[in-house]
Amino acid sequence: MIAYKQYIINKLYLGTLAIVSFLLFACQKKEEDPEVFNRKQLFTEDWKFYKNDTLNSLTEVLNSEDWRPIDVPHDWSIHQEFDKNSAAGIGGGALSGGVGYYKKSFNLPLEDSTRLYKIQFDGVYQNSEVWINGSYLGKRPNGYIGFEYDLTPYLHYGSQDNTIVVKADNSDQPNSRWYSGSGIYRNVWLKKLNKIHIPNWGTFITTPSISKEKALVNITAKIKNEFLEDKEIEVQITIFQDDQEIVKSETSALNITTNSEIGFNKELTIYKPKLWSIDSPWLYKAQIDIIQNKNLIDRFETRFGIRDFKFDFEKGFKLNGESLKIRGVCMHHDLGPLGAAINTRAIERQLEILKEMGVNGIRTAHNPPAPELLDLCDQMGFIVMDEAFDIWTTAKTKHDYSQYWDKWHEQDIADLIKRDRNHPSVFLWSIGNEIQEQWSEKGEKIGIELSNIVKSLDSKRPVTAGMNPPVHVSDKEVTIQFEETADKPNSLAGSGALDVIGYNYAHQTWEKHQLNFPNTPFIATETTSGLQTRGYYEFPSDTTKIWPVRWDKLFTGGNPDHTISAFDQVRAPWGSLHETSWKIIKKNDFLSGFFIWTGFDYIGEPTPYEWPSRSSYFGIVDLAGFPKDVYYMYKSEWTDDDVLHLLPHWNWEQGQTVDVWAYYNNADEVELFLNGESRGTRSKRDDELHVMWRFPFESGTLKAISRKNGQIVKETEIRTASKPAKLELFPDRKKIRADGLDLSFITVTITDAEGTIAPRANNQIDFEIEGPGEIVGVSSGDPTNHESFKGKSHRALNGKCLVIVQSTRQAGEIKISANSAGLESNSAVLISH
Ligand code: GAL
Repeated sequence: MIAYKQYIINKLYLGTLAIVSFLLFACQKKEEDPEVFNRKQLFTEDWKFYKNDTLNSLTEVLNSEDWRPIDVPHDWSIHQEFDKNSAAGIGGGALSGGVGYYKKSFNLPLEDSTRLYKIQFDGVYQNSEVWINGSYLGKRPNGYIGFEYDLTPYLHYGSQDNTIVVKADNSDQPNSRWYSGSGIYRNVWLKKLNKIHIPNWGTFITTPSISKEKALVNITAKIKNEFLEDKEIEVQITIFQDDQEIVKSETSALNITTNSEIGFNKELTIYKPKLWSIDSPWLYKAQIDIIQNKNLIDRFETRFGIRDFKFDFEKGFKLNGESLKIRGVCMHHDLGPLGAAINTRAIERQLEILKEMGVNGIRTAHNPPAPELLDLCDQMGFIVMDEAFDIWTTAKTKHDYSQYWDKWHEQDIADLIKRDRNHPSVFLWSIGNEIQEQWSEKGEKIGIELSNIVKSLDSKRPVTAGMNPPVHVSDKEVTIQFEETADKPNSLAGSGALDVIGYNYAHQTWEKHQLNFPNTPFIATETTSGLQTRGYYEFPSDTTKIWPVRWDKLFTGGNPDHTISAFDQVRAPWGSLHETSWKIIKKNDFLSGFFIWTGFDYIGEPTPYEWPSRSSYFGIVDLAGFPKDVYYMYKSEWTDDDVLHLLPHWNWEQGQTVDVWAYYNNADEVELFLNGESRGTRSKRDDELHVMWRFPFESGTLKAISRKNGQIVKETEIRTASKPAKLELFPDRKKIRADGLDLSFITVTITDAEGTIAPRANNQIDFEIEGPGEIVGVSSGDPTNHESFKGKSHRALNGKCLVIVQSTRQAGEIKISANSAGLESNSAVLISH
């Protein structure tokens, strides 16, 4: 909470300072080329899209009449029907891939013919091929990494248009775990550069020594000269702390020969540095100006943070000298109903919800994330484990990256490091997740190779991998044997390639880590895998269900409607209940922390169910962004906010035996009242994380009061709802920017006539919109719902549904209405400005 408030303060503060410093700066520098401020522009509007799986010739594709206008980022798979027979399978969310084409025409003024033009894609899924004016620029199989092409030699200036064409081929599926999305699903940038410039990912900033008094900042930059002559230039570095200039270097003069790239290095001192931390994520900016004949010809800005950290064998993780437990979650890259198409506000909302819960770490499972995620983690204060691969040479799904490994892995991992190494939020590089070769000699060899590549580009951050221990299966039992292979040669774990040993699951062996790996610190890279449907409960709540019983056995149990109890009582066989893993991490200082599988539900992998389920049950938060109850267990443990959360809802059969749980903190006891009558006071004993009451159900009001030293800390009440009567709408933001990108996430609840949420209402809700806005997503968090996420009607789940409204580029009032047969309609008004 504190951290989030700090983030909001920083945001406001930054905005004001940015204006002031821009004005100051604009007055100081006279001979600057205004184009340096346009060097990187979003190139995302006014594309055309054409989906066709069968055409081979580009001419045929270009001659088609079926191109339709779209903006990117765009994910065509999220618009498909859920299909049991989709090649992606339910692991991929039962949403198909295929082949899609994008094109965009643009015009360049004659006077720009002296410039260089580059196009940067932050990610195209997958097998992208790019042409400019009919000339082929190249192919990039990996759908998760960014890349750049030089357009300059092929461009027309003046009256003749340029056309860029992109093909994305996601037809051979399955090829990713889990839902990948298809197409140009991340941002595209057009760069207009001077022939002398700092190239893409061309800076690397480190802070080799940090104390309270001063920090040493080491800045390395590449500078490229694409002129046909040698040039004299000057390089000036200015450091800003939140856009306020604080250190200016002397200008250095350089000679750069024709068609060459040079390295430039400068070490600067910052006095009384403001350290980046999860509560106060202070950011600095290094502005590198290249000056030629007194003209500013290129400006490259790099954000960085000053912080010191260590994964310690005895003490766990330390940030700026202080112990900090990593309370992380794994996040898959999809954005629920928005699919894989990135939207900065949608990522920010996910992070806000997680921050409120007390999460301080994100693992980008299992691939390089969108750059915007890392920018937000820098600004909001998260510890990121940045993951490169889910596969090396041995396939996990039929058509996956293993087929491109030999040709591409060196470049893909190197590009990831170069792209992300300036982010203060990145603390760990993961070279792989549950890699099939991990316990073999091949795993050792590849692990060393990858680790060496990482170290050659960033010697500061530790390397890890998410390793699942060898499991021995007999007819009678399954045993996990990290001990057997631990720290032994001929495996990834024993290779020395890893600076931090990463455990996926195997919580039974965590406390033996120091025996098994006597030299290397610990991180639990993936844990838990609890399973829940939001708002659905089963009694008794204190029996554990392992679904499926074993990962290699077909799941035959479960509920006909594919629900799973939201009491923390169901888990996958390789994982644990939520409370189990956290208790172990909490009590052992040497365990630096963990990343729970998962923060949010994601599309695909509906373990333990098959079709008709199509998205996961693992999330602490559902696919629509509504927290499941266990969210409050973590919140009670990880934040200082007063928590008193009761579960389940209060609509049961009269006389039925029910369990009531409370998650609470900052108090010694909780007393529960049913219709005014005390049902007893409970306190958490030993390492307990919740309290429970059991008694026959009676409708009415259930009230809990938490007390500390006899003083009331918090009161919470839930009521029995009568029949569903009306809809209510709660936008997360009533004012949005009229930029065609901003979003308002509107929670729609179904309540009875008195306004009590109807916890079992699954009514169909129809949405209508008026004004300059668009409905871009609907979801209830129900993993079995087959209505399109892109529709305008959706069935609620347990009293709730989400509708997402996006602004257009026109300002005005947007009215969003929700209607449902037999219920009172309602609406909300948003201002887009
Ligand atoms: C892990 C795997 C994840 C996901 C998870 C589900 O083994 O790394 O991708 O499948 O299990 O529990």
